[in-house]
Amino acid sequence: MLGNWPEPRVRVLRMPEYHPPLGNRDALRLDFNENTVACSSRVVEALAALTPADLTRYPERGPVEALAAERLSLSREQVVLTNGVDEAIHLLCQAYLDRGDELLLPTPTYTMYEIYAAGTDASVVRVQADADFRFPFEKLLAAITPRTRMIAIANPNSPTGSVATRDQLLAIAAAAPQAILLVDEAYFHFHGETLIDAIDKVPNLVVARTFSKAYGLAGLRLGLLASRVENLRWVRRVISPYCVNTAALIALRAALEDNAYLEEYVGEVLAAREEFVTQLNRLGLRHWPSAANFVLVEIGPEHKRFCARMKAAGVLVRDRSADPGCDGLVRITVGTRAQMSVSTAAMEAALTELNIGTQYTYGGER
Ligand SMILES: Cc1ncc(COP(=O)(O)O)c(C=O)c1O
Repeated sequence: MLGNWPEPRVRVLRMPEYHPPLGNRDALRLDFNENTVACSSRVVEALAALTPADLTRYPERGPVEALAAERLSLSREQVVLTNGVDEAIHLLCQAYLDRGDELLLPTPTYTMYEIYAAGTDASVVRVQADADFRFPFEKLLAAITPRTRMIAIANPNSPTGSVATRDQLLAIAAAAPQAILLVDEAYFHFHGETLIDAIDKVPNLVVARTFSKAYGLAGLRLGLLASRVENLRWVRRVISPYCVNTAALIALRAALEDNAYLEEYVGEVLAAREEFVTQLNRLGLRHWPSAANFVLVEIGPEHKRFCARMKAAGVLVRDRSADPGCDGLVRITVGTRAQMSVSTAAMEAALTELNIGTQYTYGGER
């Protein structure tokens, strides 16, 4: 007992609370890799047409799940909609991770894999990428043990933007048949390569997609898991029946109808990414090749003050210094070309003001 209060499980007792750095984000938001413009106007119209009856009824995931599955050329049983990919990760941890099991992660990577694993009795095995942040394929293969029960790979990865190839992912799946391989394709639309077509052939593969990034629906919390029926059976046991709310389901139906919006936004971001990388080279800032809607940039010891200066100039960026191997690194979301011009100007001013020179020249040693 802690005083007069009942104690939680030991694991929970030891867990820190996780608070993403939100709070007063009324600025150019280049800190969470969201869509920086809007969602499809069809979504806004569909939400405006919500009726009291829609709100009164419990939500029914099934029909929209079937529609999402159809769009991915899958059967409806091969798809589960979730309250964001975060919930999907949580569900997989609940379904698969027991005492003595290992969750294998290439690091640095998306924070929530560790957070949800920390709530289970499994341990986390981390495989650190080299300074080039390339996917640590060989090291990851070597770290697979009979205890490996889950492997989570964000592809493209965050915060690095690096990618694993299809062959590498298939080799990992084959090397760990006792483990679920989660391939988290949150940034799929900016990369264009997927493993979703392989779920029939690869028994332990689960692919995740989010509607928070390219689709611009982060506030509605919508994610998706695709896998063989046999795997999703366990996920369906631990999921809550109404995890995706009615507004989100109605929005998703509308979003799936508007491919033109998605293509236009993704096209703009890809053009902006190319321009932004050119600007980073001009400024002499080291950065890493990214297949996603963000770029990881080396700012160096002044990273904190740099982020604060950017914020003061109305541009939010994300300090990733606390991530393993990321000291002095800042992740900057790519929005439109116009937004990135604003960001570049703010960066240039911050670098001058803080006297950050070219000592971190692109391509130099870290
Ligand atoms: C790799 C990765 N997966 C999942 C998520 C979260 O997705 P969602 O908003 O659907 O929970 C993020 C968000 O930043 C991410 O970077």
